[in-house]
Amino acid sequence: MEKREKLYEGKAKQVWSTDDPALVVQYFKDDATAFNAQKRGTIASKGVVNNAISEVLFKELEANGVKTHLVRRLNDREMLVRRLSIIPVELVVRNIVAGSMAKRLGLEEGGDLPSPVVELYYKDDALGDPMINDDHVVVFGWATAEDLRHIKQEALKINQVMRKFFLERGILLVDFKLEFGRAVSGEVLLGDEICPDTCRFWDAKTREKLDKDRFRRDLGGVEEAYQEVYRRVVQ
Ligand code: TMP
Ligand code: ASP
Repeated sequence: MEKREKLYEGKAKQVWSTDDPALVVQYFKDDATAFNAQKRGTIASKGVVNNAISEVLFKELEANGVKTHLVRRLNDREMLVRRLSIIPVELVVRNIVAGSMAKRLGLEEGGDLPSPVVELYYKDDALGDPMINDDHVVVFGWATAEDLRHIKQEALKINQVMRKFFLERGILLVDFKLEFGRAVSGEVLLGDEICPDTCRFWDAKTREKLDKDRFRRDLGGVEEAYQEVYRRVVQ
């Protein structure tokens, strides 16, 4: 496998083409942004940590029947993945009230939801990723009704697998964001990354935040939190 040209550079990752048109390389950066890139910084070794955590989680999901874009981790900062045509809909799954849900609905953070809530957001930085519903997805052709049904079902299954996985490591999975896409083979696969940038993790005993909220909210101990998740998940 030979890495060729940079196809795309996002806020936290780069995507490179390879000599195989069906495969690309994801390169994980240390750059961190929040509030649609109004806040910028770096988190030392974040790329290495997120690459390793994502690999472990994609493998755990595959072992539980969830199809992902992972082929293999190549090195500290690079992962070989199937090339996807990304569905421009971000799925957020919530188990505990936090973040934008708390703000939007005037709730305190920390309340257990009686069952998981799946939210949809239109993936568009210029618009600030607005919240949408199922009808928007189908009417504007971002995904078919069948694909939407499938990825929502997958999101709930991923939640079940990940909640258990993290609880066994003393971590509450508060909420997380997923992206799916269609591979060259035509299959719809889970893409992107799953890491402390894209999930909220709270220590199960102390409820201490072990995720990007430490950066977003200037809580300090950002690198330490990422390392702690790395220690519990990867080592
Ligand atoms: P929210 O409460 O801000 O809507 O975030 C819900 C989850 O989605 C949280 O685990 C963090 C993740 N997330 C991203 O991965 N990317 C984003 O741009 C945002 C706003 C949230
Ligand atoms: N990725 C988001 C941004 O647009 C930040 C976040 O995760 O809150 O900068």
